[in-house]
Amino acid sequence: MKITVVGTGYVGLVTGTCFAEMGNSVVCVDIDENKISLMKSGKTPIYEPQLQELMQRNIEQSRLDFTTSLKDGIKEAEVIFLALPTPPSEDGSADLKYVLGVADELGSTLDHYAVIVDKSTVPVGTSARVKKAIEKNIKVEFDVVSNPEFLREGFAISDFMSPDRIVVGVKKGSVAEKRMTQLYEPLTNDGSELYIMDEASAEMTKYAANAFLATKISFMNEIANLCELVGADADSVRLGIGSDERIGKRFLYPGIGYGGSCFPKDVLAIHKIASDNNYELKIVGAVNEVNEFQKKVLITKITKVFGNDLSGKKFALWGLAFKAETDDIREAPALEIITGLLSMGAQVRAYDPEAIENVKKFYGQPEGLSFEDHYQALDEVDGLIIATEWNMFKEPDFARMKQIMKRPIIFDGRNIYDPDTMKENNFTYFSIGRKEVK
Ligand SMILES: NC(=O)c1ccc[n+]([C@@H]2O[C@H](COP(=O)([O-])OP(=O)(O)OC[C@H]3O[C@@H](n4cnc5c(N)ncnc54)[C@H](O)[C@@H]3O)[C@@H](O)[C@H]2O)c1
Repeated sequence: MKITVVGTGYVGLVTGTCFAEMGNSVVCVDIDENKISLMKSGKTPIYEPQLQELMQRNIEQSRLDFTTSLKDGIKEAEVIFLALPTPPSEDGSADLKYVLGVADELGSTLDHYAVIVDKSTVPVGTSARVKKAIEKNIKVEFDVVSNPEFLREGFAISDFMSPDRIVVGVKKGSVAEKRMTQLYEPLTNDGSELYIMDEASAEMTKYAANAFLATKISFMNEIANLCELVGADADSVRLGIGSDERIGKRFLYPGIGYGGSCFPKDVLAIHKIASDNNYELKIVGAVNEVNEFQKKVLITKITKVFGNDLSGKKFALWGLAFKAETDDIREAPALEIITGLLSMGAQVRAYDPEAIENVKKFYGQPEGLSFEDHYQALDEVDGLIIATEWNMFKEPDFARMKQIMKRPIIFDGRNIYDPDTMKENNFTYFSIGRKEVK
């Protein structure tokens, strides 16, 4: 099939590359000229396992191309995916200006029948708004379909190629349904479930899924905070409850709050959708509140040890990305920690295997923040903070660390070490929901 993907970010580039890998002919469109020229040369602007190799192969075999021109990009398209940003507006609602802007442009550019597929995460009713925006100027038939994306950064290729489910909001029996079913056939033939539903239900499914997952995280974080107060061990509790199949083991890790480009904004957006409909989603509101609190727990632990004036203190920070296996720093808890420490006068020596460049762009060069290599970051520091659960942090050379650090104190926001091991190695160790080691 001839496919166009408009918006070539985390979702768009993975979508385009994977459909090309299945044998389709794909053009990816983006307004960012630097990104497009980088991708044309076979390089990915984001870090995502397997993506680079897959992209290169499909470019070489002429199934994947890139352009900044929407008009050229959609010339022969049978299916046009919109994978555009939907950032939060000030009131928490999803800002649809990118999606509706492109819909407008499609209306005056498209000159043949195509199925337009919304892959962005959008409020209920957006399919209808996209349709209206296109209809204003269009002279040909078209259909609008909702096909929310559930991939996880860090596992994006495998999630896209073998998804738990594919959700398509489309009129049953329509040409668009047939085309979408055909497009996803390589995946459904391999056992992935395809759920056809109406557009509103598809749009709601995406928000409900993310709100539920965020709820699981905030719930476990609250239980972990309570564990600290009553002397229980959050990791034992996690295993104890997670082995109940109705609860499940995944997404139960206590930590420093969820971040990333999806959960924070989607939780706010579904809350706003409810209040716009005169209904309060109380649980979802609390999930956000708990998360805001949780993002600060490491700073609270640090100030309990060092006080509120951190001038003259130096901290190493391992991990900047919002989670492991990505370079994405959007809403990363590490950023909150850096900002907090700098505002209290501390110096921060930060390291991340993939996300340093993005943090440099985000902060510029503020006083007190430097970027170092893995162990170099520990030089003469008063403490180490762990903010991302990269595998390379999990089994470090503790003896070497102690030699380099001024004080052997670790604030672990991801519970990657065993408190007993830390005791054996004579570290002072703070983690989430577990006993302090002093
Ligand atoms: N990142 C994820 O893990 C993930 C997962 C599922 C769903 N989503 C949803 O998918 C959507 C896209 O997210 P993302 O993380 O890929 O965003 P992103 O910011 O990484 O990418 C969006 C791309 O769109 C481009 N763009 C903006 N305006 C454009 C225009 N007029 N024409 C062409 N390109 C334009 C930007 O330059 C950017 O490259 C969002 O709604 C998000 O909520 C994201």
